[in-house]
Formats: sequence, structure tokens, C-alpha cells
Amino acid sequence: MRIAVIGGGPAGLFFAGLMKQADPAHDIVVHERNRLDDTFGFGVVFSDATEEALAAADAGVTAAMAAHSHRWDDIEIHYRGTTISSTGHGFSGLSRRTLLAILADRCRGLGVDLRFQCEVTDPETLRGADLVLAADGINSLVRERYREQFGPVVDTRPNRFVWLGTARPFPAFTFYFKRDAHGLWRVHAYQYEPDRSTFIVEATEATWRAAGMDQASEEETIAFCERLFADELAGHRLIGNRSLWRGFPTIRNARWSHGNVVLVGDAAHTAHFSVGSGTKLAMEDAVALAAALRQYGDVPAALAAYEEARRPAVESLQRAARVSLQWFEDTERYMELEPLQFAFTLLTRSLRITHGNLKTRDPAFVARVDAWLSERAHREAGVPAPPAPAPPPMFTPFRLRDLLLTNRVAVSPMCQYTAQDGMPNDWHLVHLGSRAMGGAGLIFTEMTDVSAEGRISPFCTGLYRPEHAAAWKRIVDFVHANTAARIAVQLGHAGRKASTQRMWEGDNQPLPAGNWPLVAPSPIPYFPHSQVPKEMTRADMDRVVADHARATGLAIAAGFDMLEIHMAHGYLLASFISGVTNQRTDEYGGGLENRMRFPLEVFRAVRAVWPDDKPMSVRISANDWVPDGITPRDAVEVARILTDAGADMIDVSAGQTSKRAKPVYGRMFQTPFSDRIRNEAGIATLAVGNIYDADHVNSILMAGRADLVCLARPHLANPYWTLHAAADLRYEGLTWPKPYWPGRDQLHRLKSRPDVMTGKV
Ligand SMILES: Cc1cc2nc3c(=O)[nH]c(=O)nc-3n(C[C@H](O)[C@H](O)[C@H](O)COP(=O)(O)OP(=O)(O)OC[C@H]3O[C@@H](n4cnc5c(N)ncnc54)[C@H](O)[C@@H]3O)c2cc1C
Ligand SMILES: Cc1cc2nc3c(=O)[nH]c(=O)nc-3n(C[C@H](O)[C@H](O)[C@H](O)COP(=O)(O)O)c2cc1C
Repeated sequence: MRIAVIGGGPAGLFFAGLMKQADPAHDIVVHERNRLDDTFGFGVVFSDATEEALAAADAGVTAAMAAHSHRWDDIEIHYRGTTISSTGHGFSGLSRRTLLAILADRCRGLGVDLRFQCEVTDPETLRGADLVLAADGINSLVRERYREQFGPVVDTRPNRFVWLGTARPFPAFTFYFKRDAHGLWRVHAYQYEPDRSTFIVEATEATWRAAGMDQASEEETIAFCERLFADELAGHRLIGNRSLWRGFPTIRNARWSHGNVVLVGDAAHTAHFSVGSGTKLAMEDAVALAAALRQYGDVPAALAAYEEARRPAVESLQRAARVSLQWFEDTERYMELEPLQFAFTLLTRSLRITHGNLKTRDPAFVARVDAWLSERAHREAGVPAPPAPAPPPMFTPFRLRDLLLTNRVAVSPMCQYTAQDGMPNDWHLVHLGSRAMGGAGLIFTEMTDVSAEGRISPFCTGLYRPEHAAAWKRIVDFVHANTAARIAVQLGHAGRKASTQRMWEGDNQPLPAGNWPLVAPSPIPYFPHSQVPKEMTRADMDRVVADHARATGLAIAAGFDMLEIHMAHGYLLASFISGVTNQRTDEYGGGLENRMRFPLEVFRAVRAVWPDDKPMSVRISANDWVPDGITPRDAVEVARILTDAGADMIDVSAGQTSKRAKPVYGRMFQTPFSDRIRNEAGIATLAVGNIYDADHVNSILMAGRADLVCLARPHLANPYWTLHAAADLRYEGLTWPKPYWPGRDQLHRLKSRPDVMTGKV
């Protein structure tokens, strides 16, 4: 096979070597515009796991890499005058120049034709080869030449960074967070040779500009950073190598091949340097492509197989990198956290490392952070802390006003569509009762409507007749008498999404018959075929405020411990908050402050009736996922306004406002909005949305991304979710219903026998 490689970086050289190794008859030419030792940059990082994977492809190359690497296990975080260390991370640093020399040596030994100082100006001239490998890096000429075919998207991030070197050795992967008059500077530093370390300096665009770095030459940049980090450099100089400030470009391509041309490495995709994986991705691409070509003699089939095999892993890493770079863009937000919690958020920032993984890597560190969180949680809740070891974060108590929750798991509100005329019945008793028996600290009722017109469907529960309060009281009393859980009612009004069928009959679809009139801020139907709601008049507003106040009185009579107002998911109050659904021209429409006016009136009316010693939360949609809708930044403002009015907690959901929404789903996908509200505005939050593992819950709480964690669907599949989570975590302090004690004892016994749990007996 005749192979033309454009670019002699890690992807191009490793691929050339692997192909030649597989079949010496291949005719392979590598075109590299620079000299071999011209390379930009300093050291690259590999994890132990990456090295093992690459060793399977070429043990000789990885052995040479290992011989020249500087290995470390620790991560050291310098923050607000303290240094926090965590161990067990298993990484190596290697000079990029050495890596390229190893790869080039290997190629030469195998007979690859390496042509340095050979720039390709038009890849079309090489198309006569059987395969053209575009390994020409981040500014790929080939990608640009066939732009239409590859469909590249480049997202250049706002933070600025500069890649520098220093002779100062760093025994650990080291992060510095340092403020000066211009703002906060982040440093990522790691050693890759006995007397050489990479020293990347990063700042927000505002800080970078304030320091005049937008005008600085390379020499001025180095002089500025040497002054700023004089203590950290301990007398060592900084070294430049085409060290210019840049914004990181995240690159994606819709397709990775076009005819016989294929993209690999940075030309195909990039992942932010804070996950340290660009070289790893480039070399893994080379392995996957060489394997596909070995398996399929046919180039088009091999290129398709390569993309199919690599794309999921690359996209998953790019997702992790996106969350990680976001953390560095938002670091200012976390600067008030206590050092241990700050360190935990940094270590778990990409959401790939969790409380559980970290416990395996560094049990002592996790024991320290758990003890810290437990001590604080017990102190704040006014409850004596149990003897060591500290409970996992999810089993720490939480107090809001006079309400004390024994743990941090909540059963999220879930409509059951099984009531008649708003009356909760035996279904609700068993459904909510069993979930309360299942160990969660807090149980939410489904959205319970303040009027018959406010119901989503004819089968939704309500609190608009005295009989409803009595029926709810039976359920509340059961929970209080038989479990340690507390129970909150979620009050709502469906607005333009009222009068619809049950979820399993036709979600949000109008009733086939018997529809009732709808009200909304503006006369905009949900679907084009939905009823057009009436634009609310002042009289309508007065009625809705009064309905909420009456429902609150009934909630008190029912004995609920907490009350949540539903201002999310496109229902009535949410539709006032979002500009997508509120297009009023009076004082209730326009800017956010105006759009909040009516929801606030409702909130204040409820707060005035609801007892002072009982807490209130508000559920909001923190992202409408449409360009003209509520953004996570607006949500911080919404949360502030509600908290100023007396809300104790914000339950941070998202979406369901508009059919145009394009949500980005994933594990814990709404948690970043909770994180932002909690840490920017200093407000207690509940996180919800695709959180299904005890490890997610512990990670979210420990990192300070929320105060409580709501799970909905996992509780439909397993009412005893929390009891099982406690057993999984070997935590024995959770209260089980007494009649279930034999089950508890057996479960805990089984969980402590891995042979049983893995089915090996
Ligand atoms: C600040 C920073 C820190 C980083 N840290 C790490 C890290 O710790 N770990 C890690 O794994 N990765 C890291 N990376 C990423 C890493 O440098 C790249 O992801 C990796 O080098 C990609 O390999 P590649 O072979 O695809 O491209 P490159 O290494 O960019 O190689 C492309 C080659 O193609 C050549 N070329 C380009 N155009 C032409 C042409 N027309 N004709 C001939 N030759 C051409 C270039 O000269 C270059 O040698 C970091 C990147 C940055 C910016
Ligand atoms: C069957 C069902 C009914 C729901 N009903 C409500 C509701 O009444 N009020 C509400 O705020 N959210 C409601 N939701 C949304 C959930 O509370 C939760 O926010 C969402 O399901 C995401 O959490 P999960 O990934 O844990 O399921 C409902 C979800 C489901 C699955």
C-alpha cells in the first residue's frame, strides 16, 4: 500500500511505524514541514492506563517512552495559602521532543521515508497514494482544503493560556491559583525531565486584558509571569518556545474521511489540555486506524470502521474535556470554597473521577474530605456527629429552618395521573409511603394543583377542596408515623400546558373531549394544534394568587413539612419567567425583573401563609435550551430574586418550556446549573436530572454542587433505592423500618461478600 502522511507529529509518526511494522512492503512517506527537533511546546502527559493501551500496539516504543518519562502519583493544589495533596493518580510526563525522536527512530529503523522540512501546500498532489493521512495538527491544511466534506466546527474558548517551560522541578502535578490586582491566574505545572517542567498559565479574558497581556510580546509575557510567580518558581526562570497567548480551540468534524483522505489526531478533534489527552488521542487514533487497515484490505471499509470504532471514545473524552475546561473558565466561582472542598471539585471537575474512584485512588484523602463535610453538616444541622468513620456525604443531615432531614436524598416530584377530581387515593398512599420507607430523607408529592383548571390532566392531584387536605393528611401521617422521611408538597398550576392527556396516552396532547379553557401570560399555544390560552388579566392573576394561598392553607392542614412552588417546565409561573412564553407588553412582560413580578406575587402570598418555621423551595427551569429562552446565567438571577423574597432552596431543573428546545442530555446533565446557582449566588440548591448512582450523589454533594439530590426515575424502578445505596456503601447508620430488619441484615451481609455479589458462588 502507498501511504502519504502529512505531518510528523505523534499521530503521523506512530501510524507510519505501526503500518510499516505490520507490513514492511508498505511504501510510507511522512511529510513534515519542520525539522525533527524544531518542535513547539514542552512536555506531554500520559496516564498509566494510556501507556498500557499503547504498549499493546508497540511495546518497543512505549518502553522507550517509559525510560525517558518522569513519573508521579500526586496532585498538589495551592489555594488560598494552603497546599492540598492527593495521591494515586499515576501519570508520566515526557518531553515532546523526546517522544518525537523515539517515534522517528522507530520509523527510520523500519524503513519509513521521513522527509523533514517538506511542507505540503496542496494535499491534492498526494491523492494518487492509496491512503493520505492528514496528521497535520490543530491548524490542519487538509481539513481546510476539504472543508465541505469534513464539516469542521471550531469552538475557540474565551480563557487565554500560554505554554511555558521552567527548570524548576515539580514533584507532583501542581496547580496554583493566584490572585493579583488584575484577577485570578491558574497554573498547570508538571515535570517531564529531571530539570524541565511545563508551566501553563491561564486566565479569563478579562484578567488577561486587565494585565495588558493582549498587547504583550513573548518576552513581556515571560517577564510578567516570572514576576507574578516569583515565589512559585523559587528562583528559576521561565522558558519560552513560540509562547503566545491563545484561546483553546475545541475542534470537531462531522466526518473524518473523504475518499482516501483521513483525519487523525488534532486535525480531527481536540480536547482541552486540562484533561492532558491530545497526544494520547492522536496515538490511539493511529492504533485504531492501523488495526482497521489490517482487518480490512479495502481502504473505504477500513476508514469507516476506524471512525466507527474511535468516535464514541473521542466524543466521550471531548465531553469530559468540555466540563473540565468549563471548570477552569469558572474557577473564580469556587474561590470561596473551603480548601478541601475546592480540591475535591478540582479533582472531580470532568465528572470522570468521582467520589468512589477517588476513594480507590486515595482513601486517606476521601476519608479527610468526608470527615470535613460530616463535621460541617452535623454542626450546621445542630446534630452531634457520629463516631468515626464519617458517613458518606449522602448520609449527612441537612437543616432548613426547623426541618431536619436525616440524609440528602430526595424523591423528586412525579405525576402519577391516578387521581379523580384532585383527590389523592390509595395509589398515592402506597406510592409515596413505600418511597418514604425506602430510606430517602425527603419525599416530594407530585405537582399538586391549586385549582381544577390548573391541573395538567383530569387525573392530577390537587389541593383546592378541604377533602383534598384530609386525603393528603392520611398520607403525611403515614410517612411521619412509620418512617424517618419528611414530606414536601409541590404546588403548581399548569397554565398553557393544562387540560392534556395522561403521559402514557399522549404527553402534553389536548384531551380528545372535555377540554377546559387555559390561561397563560401570552396567548401562545404549546403545540400548533394545542388550545390557545387566554392572556391573563389582572383579575385572572388575583384568582391564581388566591388559589395558591388557599392551597397553602390546605397544605398546612395536611401537615406537610415543606412546600415547593413549581416554577419550572413551562407551567404557568415558568411561562411568566421565560421570554419565549411571556410576550406581554405590560409590567409583567419585557425584562427579567418584570417577568418575575407575577411569580413573585404568588411566592409572597404563599410565604405569608406558610409557617415561618417551615421551609419553602422553588423549582425552576435553569435552561430553556432555546437561544431566546432562559439561560443558566439568567437562572442565577431568578434564584437570587426568589431567595430575596424568602425561598430557602432552589430546585434546579431545566427545559420543557418549548418544543424547539435542544437539550444536551448526559449523566447529571442539569447539575452544572445547580452548581452555578449555589456557588455564584450562595443559595442552597437541589440537583436533579439523570442522577442514578450513589457515587453521583456523593460526588455532587462533596463538590458542593448541590445541598440535596433528587432522583425521580430511579425511584420508580426501586422505591428502596436509598436503602440499597447505603448497603452498597457499607453504611449501617440508615434507619430501616423495623419489620424489614432481617432483609437489612441479609443485604448488608451479602454486600460484604464480593463473591456473592459477583455471582461467583
Ligand atoms: C498548552 C498545551 C498543552 C498540551 N499538553 C498536552 C499533554 O500534556 N498531553 C497530551 O497528550 N497532549 C497535550 N497537548 C496536545 C498535544 O500537543 C496535541 O494534541 C498532539 O500533539 C496532537 O498530535 P498530532 O500528531 O495530531 O498533531 P501535532 O503534534 O500538532 O503534529 C502535526 C505536525 O504536522 C506538521 N504540519 C502541519 N501542517 C503541515 C503541512 N502542511 N505540511 C507538512 N507538515 C505539516 C506540523 O509541523 C506538526 O509537526 C497540549 C497542547 C497544548 C496546546
Ligand atoms: C413520571 C414522571 C412524572 C414527573 N412529574 C413531575 C412533577 O409532577 N413535577 C416536577 O417538577 N417534575 C416532574 N417530573 C420530573 C422529575 O421530577 C425529574 O425532574 C426528572 O424526571 C429528572 O430526574 P430523573 O433523571 O431522576 O428522572 C416527572 C418525571 C417523571 C419521570
